[in-house]
Amino acid sequence: MSKPKVFVTRKWPASVEAKLKALYDVTLNEDDRPLSADEFKSALQNYDAVCPTVCDSFPADVINVDNKRCKILGNFGVGYNHIDINAAKAQGLVVSNTPGVLTHSTADIAMTLLLMSARRGAEGDRLVRAKQWQGWCPTHMLSSDVTGATLGLIGFGRIAQAMARKAHHGFGMKIVYFKPSPADEYVTDDLNATRCESIEELLQIADYVSLHCPGGEATRHLINADMLNLMKPSAHLINTARGDVVDSAALIEALKNKRIAGAGLDVYEGEPNVHEGFLTLDNVSLLPHLGSATLGTRTAMGEKVLANLAAFFAGDHLPDRVV
Ligand code: DGY
Repeated sequence: MSKPKVFVTRKWPASVEAKLKALYDVTLNEDDRPLSADEFKSALQNYDAVCPTVCDSFPADVINVDNKRCKILGNFGVGYNHIDINAAKAQGLVVSNTPGVLTHSTADIAMTLLLMSARRGAEGDRLVRAKQWQGWCPTHMLSSDVTGATLGLIGFGRIAQAMARKAHHGFGMKIVYFKPSPADEYVTDDLNATRCESIEELLQIADYVSLHCPGGEATRHLINADMLNLMKPSAHLINTARGDVVDSAALIEALKNKRIAGAGLDVYEGEPNVHEGFLTLDNVSLLPHLGSATLGTRTAMGEKVLANLAAFFAGDHLPDRVV
């Protein structure tokens, strides 16, 4: 029997690419370049499985292409807001993702951004490199305390809880969170965490606000000018979730006018484009979507895609089926 044909849209860590090649008739994107909608349509027409990543857009018009051969999208990533899930469901196209394995690396990047923003890390690095540092003095580059400050988490899933543990047990931070229903007691007891009744309440009390909700229409511009206006002037906003959760223009205004003290961003609206307004501001730290970017995590993500494909082709229950 011939092997299933699998199309992979971007380069993976070598060890998982090798495993994939041993099992399937694989076509890789050897140049590792972003592919077009037409190339995705052609992949859907010519392969049994297509493995996209979080930067590949699969809207309804791509998914609804005629003469599809593809039966499963094995997404390399936990977020799937780049795939029109309703269209996939309507077409009987199975979608899987990679939850769980990127929890700690993403929480680490959220803490990195929190610390960079609080302690003006990126700004200090730029100053030294520009040879503009005049030497230590008692009032130079004063910044915000982290230890003992209040961290507010919007969304309280795996990544938010991992960040909360690092912040509470490592930095003595107080934890408040918002999620529609209360989190399990064993989680909140360990963190001494308090649930806010609303996002508005959380924004008013937190010294650091970190976003952990899914992207997509339901959360688009959840953090807009009105919401930013509720934050303390001394507060910092951290976004490792999805760029479109924040209205970039409103955030730029808030940072420019010192309405809030700072921000740390790993994700952007219209990624990989970054709103020009951020580039000239000193009080924003910018990373290029590094949340899950460790070799260990990306390898584990590839292993998850492999496990989902194996289950699919064996006719078994998928470990991480989205639809
Ligand atoms: C994901 O998997 O959704 C992440 O954004 C990748 O880092």
